Amino acid sequence: MRKQGSLINTSHVAVPPTQGIKYAGSKLQLLPYIFRILAQVPDAKTFFDGFAGTTRVSQAAAQLGFATTCNDSAVWSKVFATCYLLSEQPDAYYQEILDHLNSLRGRHGWFTEHYGGKPLEGKKPFQIHNTLKLDAIREEIDRLHLNDIDTAVILTSLILALDRVDNSLGHFASYLAQWAPRSYNSLDLAMPQRFPLRKRHRVLQLDIFEAIQQMEGHDIAYLDPPYGSNNEKMPPSRVRYASYYHLWKTVILNDKPALFGKAQRREDSRDTVTASIFEEFRKAPDGSFYALKALARLLKEVKAHYVLLSYSSGGRATWESLLDILHTQGKLHHAVQVDYKKNVMATMRWTHAWASDQKNLEYLFLWEK
Ligand SMILES: C[S@@+](CC[C@H](N)C(=O)[O-])C[C@H]1O[C@@H](n2cnc3c(N)ncnc32)[C@H](O)[C@@H]1O
Repeated sequence: MRKQGSLINTSHVAVPPTQGIKYAGSKLQLLPYIFRILAQVPDAKTFFDGFAGTTRVSQAAAQLGFATTCNDSAVWSKVFATCYLLSEQPDAYYQEILDHLNSLRGRHGWFTEHYGGKPLEGKKPFQIHNTLKLDAIREEIDRLHLNDIDTAVILTSLILALDRVDNSLGHFASYLAQWAPRSYNSLDLAMPQRFPLRKRHRVLQLDIFEAIQQMEGHDIAYLDPPYGSNNEKMPPSRVRYASYYHLWKTVILNDKPALFGKAQRREDSRDTVTASIFEEFRKAPDGSFYALKALARLLKEVKAHYVLLSYSSGGRATWESLLDILHTQGKLHHAVQVDYKKNVMATMRWTHAWASDQKNLEYLFLWEK
């Protein structure tokens, strides 16, 4: 029997604007719920975003006045975080560079060779008129020898521009057979929507277990790990970030890597090389899931007064198993299930009796260590 949770209203939570690419597990839609819950944490000033992805949560936290540490193992996330949380040059400075890059003539290079499709070909991530521009722009960015922060602003602009003209379903593990209408548009670099930096922020690109060794205590840690998959028939259907977004790594590094497979992925994006422990769907010899063990260890070791944990109903860990971990130590303040498509958030009080049969729910747990 499903028990009705109490509904929480998020309509009056003003979330600052954020920017990001299409990203599996992006918390764009969840931001009002996240900050509605965090508003209840008293006197919080410092915020750690451990699996930052698009960095949208960090962008919102920074604008809401938190001194923010933004971490993700992926290089594209570090580039976005550097752009939004560390760059201080005025827009005019970057606009001149973007205008110069936009004015370059396209040229045939490595990206066109591997990722550019002609109008009658499909199943490529970009149309050739845009990879020609990408080849010219990416070579020129290296030639300009900008410092790391300025390079991050320009690369963020380039990735946002590529994301607006791509031919994907939101990742680069496969491409659409028929060109997406947006892929006909022209690649055009625009100024990233940065905001004034009122606090000193920090950017890390580390495995989460190294990051928590390096971090000082924070008032709040927001943890949004990959969910793996609970689809027993097709566990490989889970999101694998390194393989889904290999192309952004290549655009950032411009290292012309060895590629494999139909989607032309980087060799180093194979599961055997880069899969995250949180994406692991198998069980350890003791019978418990690796992903769940990793989560339990993370909650134990993270140095924060409060933790807001995000998870999904399609993930490897169940609602009940998460409650089990969160009840063994600390104090669970909120256990919430969000159906953001219906704009509903329900607080579930500490019982295990909640039916988790609903599809596509987002879970949020506010936990005090
Ligand atoms: C669910 S997504 C986070 C989405 C993010 N909150 C957003 O709104 O865009 C999970 C992220 O965890 C990162 N990740 C996976 N394993 C990691 C690890 N061991 N340490 C740090 N980051 C990791 C992935 O690169 C991915 O960006």
